[in-house]
Amino acid sequence: LVNSCLVPVAQAAGTQITTIEGVANGDQLHAVQQAFVHHGGAQCGICTPGMVLAAVKLLEKTPQPSLADVRTALAGNLCRCTGYTKIFESVLEACKTNGERHMLIPPGS
Ligand code: FES
Repeated sequence: LVNSCLVPVAQAAGTQITTIEGVANGDQLHAVQQAFVHHGGAQCGICTPGMVLAAVKLLEKTPQPSLADVRTALAGNLCRCTGYTKIFESVLEACKTNGERHMLIPPGS
């Protein structure tokens, strides 16, 4: 997990890169994305890709994190809108689904 704004592109050569676009499975939102929608974890959305990716990585390593785990894992991702509470609630809700992918908003609705 890296902050893309801090990594020169040459260092990424030969690596596999997953961005926010690679987290969902087609129209099916990842559990973390769904939880962000459900809890209002995104407002302006500027911080959301970094927050979601950090949360997905956390849940891969720690499926049942504590609030302290979530705070540590998301540290370094700055949000100017939410006050962080809704983001932390989103991540804690997402772990209840055991990382399953869900479709919150059916296509075409
Ligand atoms: Fe606006 Fe986080 S939702 S910076």
